[in-house]
Amino acid sequence: MLRHLLESNSFTKNETELLLMVAENISKYPEKYRELAKYKRLATLFYESSTRTRISFETAMQKLGGDVIGFPSAEVSSASKGESVEDTIRVIQCYADIVAMRHPKEGTSRLASEYSRIPIINAGDGSNEHPSQTMLDLYTIKQRLGRLDNFVIGFCGDLKYGRTVHSLTQILNKYYSGIEFYFISPEELKMPDRFLEENMKYSEVNNLETTIDKLDILYMTRIQQERFSSQEEYMRFNGVYVLDENKMKHAKDSMAVLHPFPRVNEITLEVDKDARAAYFDQVQNGLYIRMALIMALLGIKDPISGQLILN
Ligand code: NCD
Repeated sequence: MLRHLLESNSFTKNETELLLMVAENISKYPEKYRELAKYKRLATLFYESSTRTRISFETAMQKLGGDVIGFPSAEVSSASKGESVEDTIRVIQCYADIVAMRHPKEGTSRLASEYSRIPIINAGDGSNEHPSQTMLDLYTIKQRLGRLDNFVIGFCGDLKYGRTVHSLTQILNKYYSGIEFYFISPEELKMPDRFLEENMKYSEVNNLETTIDKLDILYMTRIQQERFSSQEEYMRFNGVYVLDENKMKHAKDSMAVLHPFPRVNEITLEVDKDARAAYFDQVQNGLYIRMALIMALLGIKDPISGQLILN
């Protein structure tokens, strides 16, 4: 059956956990995965700029022995001539076996999936969701804490436009128990109501310094400059939260700091040396997760466990 990854809960809990397990197998025995997607082709259709996500998907496919085609920005695609996403997808599916797509407009990957006979991965749709990032965030949290239940997580920064925050919050609340959320943001950049569920245990605060000691995970985000209507509006929030050595002194020794990147000025470089900084681990883990994701959607069995990730 044709499956897509459009939102963070597109996969069941069991499928999500299998994906994390396969990613871990890949990290240990990469040579076993070298040729699994030979003769398969990934198309990366990026209508909005990206470095990490696109390069990580492309590297993941190459590490599985497959090929890559696509475009890195709307300007170099036929979108600049007025082609619709529906038509682009109908063309691309004649050439590729799987698509990773990023678009500035919410819901575009879902729209594409309605016209597609090949799997679509939402690599970010406007300020809505970014589910492959969620998978690597889960992997990194599990790696650091040894569990995905029973912990306290603080999201800090631009929670209004930060799609990685939206996706991760959803999945943690839906699939895992005993999670307490702190949403740390200015009033104007609060978590949108549509992502706050009735059954969630959460607090909305605006001070990082007085909240940090409660956290097992601190998820920092940048202020999303490109989503503001004017530069002036953006400048009101630029630099509101800066995680530095001083604030880290108040945090638990076991806390981990995550950040989806790109970082602007919200984590100082000195924090990189702190063993609690997990953001470069996220980048490395993203590769294993995206390899597992491509395998999942192409129906490729894990050679170590002999299992298929999706039912
Ligand atoms: C994030 C994104 O694009 O949503 N980056 C990423 O993919 N790792 C976060 C961001 O742009 O701030």
